[in-house]
Amino acid sequence: MERIYLDHAATTPVLPEVLDAMAPYFTVSFGNASSLHAAGRDARAALERARATIAQAIGAQPAEVVFTSGGTESDNAAVAGLTQGLPDAGRRSIVTSATEHHAVLAACEAHGTSGHAITVLPVNPDGTVNRESLARALADGPLIVSLMLANNEVGAITPYSGIADEIHGAGALLHTDAVQCLGKIPVNVAALGVDLMSISAHKVYGPKGIGALYIRNGTPWSPVLFGGGQERGRRPGTENVALAVGFARAVEAALGTMSQEAARLASLRDLLEQKLVGDLPGVLVNSCSAGRLPHLLNISFDDAVAPMEGEMLIVNLDLMGIAASSGSACTSGSVQPSHVLLAMGRTPATAAASVRFSFGRSNTVEDVERVGGAMKEIVERMRRR
Ligand SMILES: Cc1ncc(COP(=O)(O)O)c(C=O)c1O
Repeated sequence: MERIYLDHAATTPVLPEVLDAMAPYFTVSFGNASSLHAAGRDARAALERARATIAQAIGAQPAEVVFTSGGTESDNAAVAGLTQGLPDAGRRSIVTSATEHHAVLAACEAHGTSGHAITVLPVNPDGTVNRESLARALADGPLIVSLMLANNEVGAITPYSGIADEIHGAGALLHTDAVQCLGKIPVNVAALGVDLMSISAHKVYGPKGIGALYIRNGTPWSPVLFGGGQERGRRPGTENVALAVGFARAVEAALGTMSQEAARLASLRDLLEQKLVGDLPGVLVNSCSAGRLPHLLNISFDDAVAPMEGEMLIVNLDLMGIAASSGSACTSGSVQPSHVLLAMGRTPATAAASVRFSFGRSNTVEDVERVGGAMKEIVERMRRR
């Protein structure tokens, strides 16, 4: 049985050219990028080339890109580094939205315990942040706002137009989590107007364990780790040159094919959506009216029409060789319904009956046909029981 992987929002395989680009930096050019000798200088040069590639891809200066261990560290460092870096001057609140990744929500909560007021903004039924609530929260003069560029469970893209000006106008700094967006939609820090931005390599066919935090030049941000002076003192620790080189190669590959690949993935997503909505009763598409990431489809079975268990659907799909997710991979395994779907107004039972399909390079129209057929078979079988 040929397996179908439809969980690219959880992670992606490393591309062969990425693996090839990284290989010499594990063995031949293994030097410490901080060493003064030739091996160290080679490693340093490769690291700085990787940084320049990533900076160019997001419209930043190389010095504004700090390598981290991934999206989670970038999100945590953004929130923690800003709360430490800003003089509090009586304005101690952090504003975020209810559908953020746990790496942002939990980081904000952690700072809540150290005296910062946390405002979690509601979202609209399509998953986009509620702008009236944002305007009200800004009237209180917050310190930091963290709003993701697109959601990892439903794909809703935050309409960023005007948001940065509104937030800066209120005197706050803006962080965005763009982990799911790099290589899927244009991500340019200047166009977005953000002060900080998180990205991660393993969502774009790069290696796991590396990401980056963009920190706009002049942003009052303080480091959260202490040690040697690597990454200009912003993220100490011996640099992982091989992973940085792989990250840069993956970003180059993703940007080189972005517009064609995004259109191809969106057409596969739409085809599966049509099949599921047409063939199965009670299917609700989460975030259908919002601008959505091209590779992501999230559906729920309306509990009032067609009660269903999301986890059982995933297990049955897996038995038929199909990998999908019942929510964000970072929270799957937990029986809690998705905080994103609850925030969008789904009932707990409907939210628990959800499946996320996320498309990638390996997927074809034949995959969609097979998945559509498998879903029909599984749902009918589960209903008969
Ligand atoms: C939106 C978003 N932010 C952050 C993360 C965490 O990234 P990483 O796995 O690189 O730590 C993820 C991973 O699923 C994500 O989708």
